[in-house]
Amino acid sequence: MSFKAKYSRIARHYETLERPLDRFFCPLRKKAVSFVEGKTLEVGVGVGKTLRYYLSDVELCAVDAVPEALEIAREKARRLNLNACFKVADVERLPFPDESFDTVLSSFVFCTVPNPERGMREILRVLKPGGRAIFLEHTRSDSALVNYLFLWPMKLLLKPLLDDDPLRETHRLIGEHFKVERAESYYRGIVRLIVARKG
Ligand SMILES: C[S@@+](CC[C@H](N)C(=O)[O-])C[C@H]1O[C@@H](n2cnc3c(N)ncnc32)[C@H](O)[C@@H]1O
Repeated sequence: MSFKAKYSRIARHYETLERPLDRFFCPLRKKAVSFVEGKTLEVGVGVGKTLRYYLSDVELCAVDAVPEALEIAREKARRLNLNACFKVADVERLPFPDESFDTVLSSFVFCTVPNPERGMREILRVLKPGGRAIFLEHTRSDSALVNYLFLWPMKLLLKPLLDDDPLRETHRLIGEHFKVERAESYYRGIVRLIVARKG
């Protein structure tokens, strides 16, 4: 079963399932969104957990590969009075012309993207020269012990459930594609907030 089928199956329950983690991750989502400037694309918006942190006058387009999740996000934006556009799209094949956006934001997405390298190249393509990419991602820890005792067991659970690989080194991939301006590490590097520029 693909990640799309898996996320589509849990879309309606996603908020409830993630609620215990909100007190850890939502302040980080808020911080990630605070770096947004100008015309913005959010990739993998899911059910829209970041939406309440955007300023109401933001020029936002949000995509996700899973229509059921996107529909919940669209409804949330309507309630928040956000003037955002929503499109079903894969981050590996973004339906936007080159150099369309000032900012691209990704929040807990690259742990799942089947070909993350291709996703990074697409983000680079749609960013304007000097544009900013903001990544809030869960990643392999800097501590071998944390990886062994916590992330490997998590992977055994999350991979079959959501195609989520918590051991990915997304932070390294970002460094290979962008000029990193700010890199913050939380919980021993299990979560990282990275603000980077298209060179
Ligand atoms: C863990 S959820 C995070 C959702 C949201 N960004 C958040 O912070 O709660 C991962 C989301 O990324 C989406 N996703 C994963 N791979 C994708 C891809 N290749 N293209 C578009 N969306 C993708 C999934 O459908 C899912 O909604």
